[in-house]
Amino acid sequence: MLGVSVTLPFGIDFGGTGIKGAPVDLDAGGFAAERVRITTPRPSTPARIAEVFVELLSHFPDSTGPVGVTVPGVVRHGVVHSAANIDDSWIGTDADAVFTEATGRDVHVVNDADAAGLAEVRYGAARGRRGLVIVTTLGTGIGSALVYDGTLVPNSELGHLELHGQDAEHRAANSARQREDLSWEKWAHRLTKYYRHLETLFSPDLFVVGGGVSKDAAEFLPLLEIDTEIVPAVLRNKAGVVGAALNAAEAAEAARAAGH
Ligand code: BGC
Repeated sequence: MLGVSVTLPFGIDFGGTGIKGAPVDLDAGGFAAERVRITTPRPSTPARIAEVFVELLSHFPDSTGPVGVTVPGVVRHGVVHSAANIDDSWIGTDADAVFTEATGRDVHVVNDADAAGLAEVRYGAARGRRGLVIVTTLGTGIGSALVYDGTLVPNSELGHLELHGQDAEHRAANSARQREDLSWEKWAHRLTKYYRHLETLFSPDLFVVGGGVSKDAAEFLPLLEIDTEIVPAVLRNKAGVVGAALNAAEAAEAARAAGH
């Protein structure tokens, strides 16, 4: 330890159904204490979510480090710019400022898939991999993270590529499989089209597949007919919390180094 100012970062995964948080041990890439989950309120406006964060953090009175938060939308310099699957009031919200003000903590928001990407590259399925890794999360939407030689290119938003004249996530997300009651084979067929499209555009070295359905990877990954290696995510439902905390720790360190 370098001194009292070195404290564990805290990660919060803000999802459509639950908001989960825990302090994170960055050496181990896991939770430093048991995580707490609170049901996501509706509507999930920034003000109501901020109240939940205050409650969540109150469960960890010893935690004082920077706080990372995932948001399922485009995030540039703390400001949310899209809301495909969340309340429209997020668009234009300076989420870093709103949450910092509400919690009194140093808060840094990050796109949810980017957080998962950071976590998988640092601790998970893409650990130590060089070249271009594309992490996709298959859930309500499709999230994506582009990581080249360990460096994230944020906000790639590859779930909104066009597939058969539609938003790709509308056809190929896990929610499409559930909504249309698709067999694994039928869904794998759509995923093949989707990943082939990504191959054509990016020639990646590795795909990592995250999202809750990655626990069923054995049912559908072997059915994909693509050229690129494709593997399931390893951190599963920890990726958001761990990646958000990692991002916050790095952002706080960068600010300190810049003298802010
Ligand atoms: C959003 C992305 C998000 C993804 C997964 C998409 O609809 O545009 O920002 O990463 O869903 O939640």
